[in-house]
Amino acid sequence: MHPGAHVLHYASSCFEGFKAYRGPDGQVNVFRMDRHIERLRQSARALALPVPGTEQLDQMIRALIDRTRRSVPDAPGALYLRPLLFGTMAAIGGAATPPTEALLIVIASPVWDYFEGGAKPLRIFVDDQHQRTAPHLGEVKAGANYAAAIGQTVIARQQHGADQVLFCPQGQVQETGAANFVLLRDRHLLTRSLDSTFLHGVTRDSLLTIARDEGYRVEERNFDVAEMLAWVSTGEAALAGTAAVLAGVGTLIHGEEEHRVGDGAVGPITQNLRSQLVDIQQGRVEDRFGWLTPV
Ligand SMILES: Cc1ncc(COP(=O)(O)O)c(C=O)c1O
Repeated sequence: MHPGAHVLHYASSCFEGFKAYRGPDGQVNVFRMDRHIERLRQSARALALPVPGTEQLDQMIRALIDRTRRSVPDAPGALYLRPLLFGTMAAIGGAATPPTEALLIVIASPVWDYFEGGAKPLRIFVDDQHQRTAPHLGEVKAGANYAAAIGQTVIARQQHGADQVLFCPQGQVQETGAANFVLLRDRHLLTRSLDSTFLHGVTRDSLLTIARDEGYRVEERNFDVAEMLAWVSTGEAALAGTAAVLAGVGTLIHGEEEHRVGDGAVGPITQNLRSQLVDIQQGRVEDRFGWLTPV
């Protein structure tokens, strides 16, 4: 690649992450492929990168799965798919010029279940000082957003033994560095309402759909750190994202205080919603929302 490539100077890059699962019948199914394709196109638009066509992405993903079919593990493993798009136009004077040339690549890797052998409750550092990204770019899966959040995550890990940072700018609960955040209690789910400040997770949307279908009260609204800390004294908290699916939070670290979430273990509502979603992803129950694309 040319050392003047736009991405190397001005971070014109975005990506996607999603999974293909092998069902009990051997069929490989991609989970919510259309949503991930559309989100990559939105990210490209937001970063003024050339926008790849839906059809082109669809074909690239299918061709890659076809060539790596034998590497798709059985459940609970999966094939992780990672399309990436970055500006290759050589223009070191192009800080204010969108790249007119870009490279689109799709890579894949077999992955295993994070929580095989028992889910470990997460330790989460509540950061009400910093924001993860610029407020208008949170919903964009831009590489630079991740670079911006790594520093805070490293500090929280070193100082508090935290697994992740929950960003809560101005005290308003947003999301972690790589997953959305939900509160659960008595058939009630609370999560931040969609806005430009955080990534609109496909897992979040899927969980909300299942919870509504199960008759849960699903509330999407803003809430602050004080409300969250009061909630977790009797309720549950979890992270929602492609990698972890739904991962229970055991401890929230706020300032110098540690707040135990429920009894500190992964709660029953988290486990129940997680297994309902995983059963659909892995093709063990009917795909009642039409989320699987057989490839
Ligand atoms: C910052 C951030 N938020 C939320 C998510 C969850 O999104 P999804 O459920 O689409 O994987 C991810 C990653 O996957 C992420 O990187």
